Amino acid sequence: MTALRIGIAGFGTVGGAVARLLLRDADRLAARAGGPLHIARVAVRDLAKPRSVALPAGCVGADALALALDPTLDIVVEVMGGLEPARSVALAALQRGAHFVTANKQLLAAHGAELAAAAGRGGGAVHCEAAVAGAIPIVRAVSHALAGDRVVGVAGIVNGTTNYILTQMGRHGVDFGTALAGARELGYAEADPTNDIGGHDAAAKLAVLAGIAFQCELQTQDVYTEGIADITQADVVAARELGFCIKLLAVARRQGTGLQARVHPALVPLSHPLAGVHDAYNAVLVEAEAAGALMFYGRGAGAEPTASAVLANLVDAAQDIRRGIGGRIEQPLQRVPLIDIGDVESRFCLSVGVADQPGVLGAIATVLGQHGVSVASMFQKGRSAEPIDLVFLTHTVRERQMRAALHAIVALPMVRRIAHVLRVADIGGGP
Ligand code: NAP
Ligand code: HSE
Repeated sequence: MTALRIGIAGFGTVGGAVARLLLRDADRLAARAGGPLHIARVAVRDLAKPRSVALPAGCVGADALALALDPTLDIVVEVMGGLEPARSVALAALQRGAHFVTANKQLLAAHGAELAAAAGRGGGAVHCEAAVAGAIPIVRAVSHALAGDRVVGVAGIVNGTTNYILTQMGRHGVDFGTALAGARELGYAEADPTNDIGGHDAAAKLAVLAGIAFQCELQTQDVYTEGIADITQADVVAARELGFCIKLLAVARRQGTGLQARVHPALVPLSHPLAGVHDAYNAVLVEAEAAGALMFYGRGAGAEPTASAVLANLVDAAQDIRRGIGGRIEQPLQRVPLIDIGDVESRFCLSVGVADQPGVLGAIATVLGQHGVSVASMFQKGRSAEPIDLVFLTHTVRERQMRAALHAIVALPMVRRIAHVLRVADIGGGP
């Protein structure tokens, strides 16, 4: 059986691990793929950088676009990251009919429809399991395993870096900066880690996953996004005292004829399965009409977990090529009305720093009531030094009302600060 020729654009954390495993497990992968997979060409940015995997001389170059245009390559793997030259590489490969494997959610969330159309015209295909939740086969789950069902919601932890940071802060008392440095050291973080911290990486993954799950066209900017930069050690400790942990959640859910798509930190009850997802692990809950709730859990970042997903796609692509499958394009994806965050209903945990004087509690409760925010429980933290924190847990309320109430609370003369406002996770799969 002739070998399929593979080009790998990018040879960093993920690309290096893909090559290492391709070489180490060549026989096993050949058996799964229906024939050998040969690394014919690699592109990097800096030819002088030392590499941990030895490749044949002449195989490594610095021109990713030339690699993609090489007509002798059957499959192009893009693990560079970013939008350009990744988009040009993808289009060049797909337009000449090659199969394209990518771990790049940013690219897919910005140009997914364009790439799918190019694959349809060229006769190849886009394979993107590694782009969402690392080693977890969630793309395959929503695109294939649940293809006969109607997905109503996906929710979970899809960014390893932020989950690692929050775990380090919550379980080990590590400060934010040290935890971020650890995530970078371990190869979890994006080249620009503000993509992780700011929630943009999770938003891109949600756009990709929800696009597949709900058969709609969704881009990163369609996802309401808040990151974890404002989460402090004090927030993490306070959450635990209330029986919660803080997680960066990505949620997409049908609401009427529209779709909620949001990424933000949220309080997760310590009894919920997502509270047990630590470090760079990810977990995604999928709710489908017939299947009910399903939960997928595994390593969401890191070299080998991500390489595992890339290799699975390489095997898929090789099998497709050998069977002559490709160019399949489903019906054009529709835009779906997006639900404004103001119209999303949540419970909230509100912590207000106030002057310790009579009437303050009543004043805040009155403002909440005036805006239709019903308080489920309330307690006061300490009386040793001002401001003292009053903590309110609300019943479910439309976010627009909560924001209006906050605006009015901040204006009260005895209010010194809003220590934090966090949504309480409203996700299935709990006990
Ligand atoms: P990385 O370690 O920064 O590696 C990027 C690689 O791409 C490097 O080898 C770099 O070359 C090369 N590169 C960058 N720009 C290039 C250009 N213009 N031409 C040729 N080569 C270029 O990144 P990574 O962590 O492997 O991530 C790669 C992709 O996988 C990203 O899309 C990321 O979001 C995704 N991903 C990463 C993980 C993870 O845990 N790291 C998990 C899932 C998905 P040099 O080595 O010469 O600098
Ligand atoms: N930076 C990403 C994360 C890599 O931390 O989840 C995996 O996509």
